[in-house]
Amino acid sequence: MAALDKSCLVELGPVPFKDVNNDDDNGQTAISPPTEYADIVATLPSIAAIGDSQLLKYQDVWLFIHGVTGVISIQRRFKSRPGDVLLASPPKCGTTWLKALSFATMARAKYPPSDANHPLRRLNPHECVPFMENLFSAGQEAKLEALPSPRLLQTHMHYSVLPRSLADCKIVFVCREPKDMLVSMWHFLQSAGFSFPFSDLFELACQGQNPHGPIWSHLLGYWTASTARPEMVLFLRYEDMLADPVSTVRQLARFMDVPFTAAEEAAGLPVDIVEMCSIDALRELEANKTGKFGLFFKFQHQTFFRKGVVGDWVNYMTPEMARRIDAIVGDKLHGSGLTFTSVGTIASQDQDARTLLLPTSSSLSSS
Ligand code: A3P
Repeated sequence: MAALDKSCLVELGPVPFKDVNNDDDNGQTAISPPTEYADIVATLPSIAAIGDSQLLKYQDVWLFIHGVTGVISIQRRFKSRPGDVLLASPPKCGTTWLKALSFATMARAKYPPSDANHPLRRLNPHECVPFMENLFSAGQEAKLEALPSPRLLQTHMHYSVLPRSLADCKIVFVCREPKDMLVSMWHFLQSAGFSFPFSDLFELACQGQNPHGPIWSHLLGYWTASTARPEMVLFLRYEDMLADPVSTVRQLARFMDVPFTAAEEAAGLPVDIVEMCSIDALRELEANKTGKFGLFFKFQHQTFFRKGVVGDWVNYMTPEMARRIDAIVGDKLHGSGLTFTSVGTIASQDQDARTLLLPTSSSLSSS
């Protein structure tokens, strides 16, 4: 693949997806799912899960049916370009925030954070950075072709199912302490109209059958890739981002080959980007109070901005549940070098989770 002239990146930056593909109906009328994968889909193991929905197991990952179609289509049809950057995550680990920070960082020359009409002040972050599975499962991948380079793309795919052309892009992966991720996912699905007890999702997760699960293989795929090729795969943790978002933005800029210059640092650009992308700033915007995201499932923009804290799981799990999932995840990650230090540290549900967890969250360690 020919290299992109890196000196162009900071001048060009990505453009908002919605500015290029501005359908009045967010693409609803143009949904045309590929049908040629029906034979493959029909043979996949499936379980009834999450209300009335089914999850299918495709290449060892549990997905809703549209997710399967999207992944197969990406595997067969995606064409990468020099300069593509892929944002990857399990759902509910800070994807929206990562999209906002990455877009603002990469596009800062064209759209400085001081701009009152900055794309992130008029669009939801998901309207700036496209979700690949959504587009491919709706037969709308041509919309990615319409985006000028450099493109910022987003996926929930496991590393193991990425086609070669995507695995060779620069990848930023964000993950989160699994218990908080599950609580966030449960709230999110409830808000989209799924009705089921938290314990159902918890049981699925323990079996490795939650949507986009198993959790551990999602983590390990990117972890292993990031240790093998740190210059190509940046591994971030939501808790570390919360603890020091300005350092995260600097890290993103360096990784994307657009480090902040001394003049930009002196002008306070990294701090301005963090402030523009803070959960409090984003949730107050009209673009995030109204509107919906998604082609098959509809998620209100506002549901992407809930609490944004560490340790909310104590309000939904018993100590026994916590110990169980911690033990399962700890066992699966054993020997990889990836650990979550909150594993097994909770003594009482009554204690304030933030008091308990914040000192350890920043020490989610890689040793
Ligand atoms: P909670 O549900 O725990 O509050 P995703 O973007 O992957 O769907 O993740 C959503 C989680 O990220 C939610 O967590 C949400 O509140 C949090 N979040 C969204 N925007 C954020 C921001 N700007 N800063 C910090 N957290 C944010």
